[in-house]
Amino acid sequence: MKRTFKGACLMGIAWASMFATAQAGEVDWAALNPAFAKAGYVKDKEACAGCHADSIEAYKKTVHGRTFQHGAKGPLQARDCEACHGPRSEHVAAPDASLKFSTAQYSTVCLQCHQDGGRMHWQNSQHKTGEVGCVSCHTLMQNKSKKGLLAKADESAVCYSCHADVRGQMSKQSHHPVKEGKMACSSCHNPHGSVGKSMLKGATVNETCFNCHQDKRGPFIFEHPVVRENCANCHDAHGSNNPDLLNAKGSFLCLQCHSYGGHINLPRYNRTSNPYGQGCVNCHVTQHGSNHPSGAKFTR
Ligand code: HEC
Ligand code: HEC
Ligand code: HEC
Ligand code: HEC
Ligand code: HEC
Ligand code: HEC
Ligand code: HEC
Ligand code: HEC
Ligand code: HEC
Ligand code: HEC
Repeated sequence: MKRTFKGACLMGIAWASMFATAQAGEVDWAALNPAFAKAGYVKDKEACAGCHADSIEAYKKTVHGRTFQHGAKGPLQARDCEACHGPRSEHVAAPDASLKFSTAQYSTVCLQCHQDGGRMHWQNSQHKTGEVGCVSCHTLMQNKSKKGLLAKADESAVCYSCHADVRGQMSKQSHHPVKEGKMACSSCHNPHGSVGKSMLKGATVNETCFNCHQDKRGPFIFEHPVVRENCANCHDAHGSNNPDLLNAKGSFLCLQCHSYGGHINLPRYNRTSNPYGQGCVNCHVTQHGSNHPSGAKFTR
């Protein structure tokens, strides 16, 4: 008896710490569906096995199945199936499909345990307001991806199912190596929402790029204001048929803002087909900013 009591106390401690980190409060099941009002928890997936054996077999191999089965931490996880499907005593007694959840309702269910971390900005995310939910991208009853419980084996395939236009951009000659599998959409975006626009991981476009292109961060003695302002002034992050993801070709890129006419160094015919190959950046090699004492014109 004594040992059982001590065990219960230790579990109590484990539960308390679980509350602090992972749980933002249990969902009000009856508010999601009034049919739950009279139901209690079965807390035993064997009670489901007779009718849902196939679902359970695949589920056991998922991260939830493994975690909840062997090392349930806290009362929510110990509910196993019912952590996501709500109290099921009534369902076991009179089974039907009347307790189905909408996409948005499932999100509420998931956020019982996943409010923290990457989901901090979910509530204001374009996905939430666009009526996309956790189950639009995640599949819960089986592993379809190596990690992350994604609805398709490949992350970008999940995104392309709704953002087909981005697939086209990512297939252009110059592109970030997403289709090569070296990066993912989530290298730059947090699909769960962020403080920045376009759900970018960084607060700004530039902060997002600096995560990998640190050499462009500066500060430089001579800044090119247009670079400080936004890398996207010159680059299409998803892809371009110009080299280096540039959003205009050769000299035309620079000539969008700089008038060519007064340039003392260039013969007039240089404008389109010039002898300097890439054009302006042939001489203005430090167009991202210069630390050279004589780098004011970005020529060194
Ligand atoms: C006696 C058989 C039986 C038992 C036991 C049973 N179910 Fe069901 N369940 C059904 C039937 C029948 C349906 C309706 C299937 C359909 O219409 O597609 C269903 C549907 C479901 C669904 C999908 C629709 C919904 O209501 O959300 C879930 C989830 C579910 N059951 C979970 C459970 C869980 C969890 C348990 C164990 C606590 C359980 N079931 C026990 C027979 C059973
Ligand atoms: C982490 C949340 C979660 C847990 C835990 C969970 N389910 Fe599900 N289940 C879902 C979601 C979400 C769906 C809707 C379809 C989907 O996304 O796979 C679903 C669908 C189902 C269905 C409908 C048929 C199917 O396979 O898609 C059944 C039946 C079901 N679950 C039973 C169970 C049983 C039994 C358990 C426990 C052994 C369980 N679920 C545990 C989230 C969960
Ligand atoms: C009762 C708490 C609980 C609920 C409810 C819950 N999860 Fe989880 N989830 C967990 C735990 C615990 C883990 C494992 C965390 C770990 O190991 O870091 C996990 C892991 C995950 C992972 C990571 C998988 C991986 O491979 O790393 C995803 C994705 C996920 N959950 C999505 C969902 C979605 C979507 C729902 C709603 C349908 C949901 N969860 C509902 C507790 C929960
Ligand atoms: C638009 C698609 C999309 C939606 C909607 C979405 N996710 Fe995810 N989620 C992803 C992708 C992609 C990853 C994988 C990122 C990675 O590999 O690190 C992920 C990873 C996760 C993880 C594991 C890594 C981590 O961040 O902790 C959890 C947990 C998770 N999602 C929970 C949720 C929950 C809960 C919701 C709903 C509130 C949700 N997701 C909505 C796409 C989505
Ligand atoms: C179920 C459909 C669906 C899936 C899957 C989906 N999205 Fe979305 N996405 C939307 C909707 C709807 C919006 C909001 C309306 C809009 O801007 O198009 C949105 C908006 C966005 C935005 C913000 C657009 C803006 O203008 O600010 C980004 C970035 C984004 N999604 C990235 C992703 C990524 C990355 C994935 C894969 C991990 C993904 N989406 C998967 C439907 C989806
Ligand atoms: C290298 C970083 C990077 C990667 C990788 C990336 N994006 Fe983006 N994405 C951006 C930036 C930057 C913007 C915003 C451009 C702006 O607002 O000026 C953006 C904007 C978007 C938008 C908003 C509308 C639009 O088309 O401009 C969507 C949707 C989107 N991305 C989806 C995706 C998807 C899907 C993937 C994966 C296939 C992906 N992104 C991969 C950087 C990236
Ligand atoms: C997660 C890391 C990561 C992030 C974030 C990132 N990049 Fe990249 N970038 C790469 C990788 C990897 C390459 C390919 C390098 C190679 O092929 O040698 C690359 C290549 C490039 C190239 C050269 C393309 C070419 O054709 O060689 C440009 C330009 C570029 N990135 C701009 C950006 C911009 C602008 C952003 C922010 C919107 C950004 N990157 C964000 C990893 C990243
Ligand atoms: C004024 C236009 C402009 C802006 C703004 C700009 N770039 Fe570039 N970037 C270029 C040009 C032009 C090239 C090609 C250089 C060449 O061909 O030598 C380039 C090349 C690159 C490359 C590939 C070659 C290298 O230098 O590593 C990366 C990575 C890159 N830029 C990242 C960025 C990042 C990150 C930002 C934002 C901080 C940014 N760029 C802003 C014009 C710009
Ligand atoms: C979107 C507009 C924009 C684009 C595109 C652009 N620049 Fe600039 N550039 C500026 C602005 C603004 C300044 C700051 C002007 C000032 O301080 O008077 C500047 C300054 C400069 C300077 C220093 C000028 C001076 O008077 O000290 C040089 C050199 C320069 N840019 C070269 C380039 C080159 C080369 C490219 C193409 C790779 C380019 N710029 C693309 C907006 C742009
Ligand atoms: C042959 C080398 C070369 C090429 C090619 C070149 N520049 Fe220059 N550019 C220079 C030098 C050198 C200076 C600095 C002159 C000085 O210090 O007074 C300069 C100065 C500038 C300035 C500053 C003008 C000022 O009044 O201070 C701008 C803006 C500029 N270049 C833009 C461009 C653009 C845009 C292109 C492409 C259409 C281009 N350059 C091509 C060498 C070149």
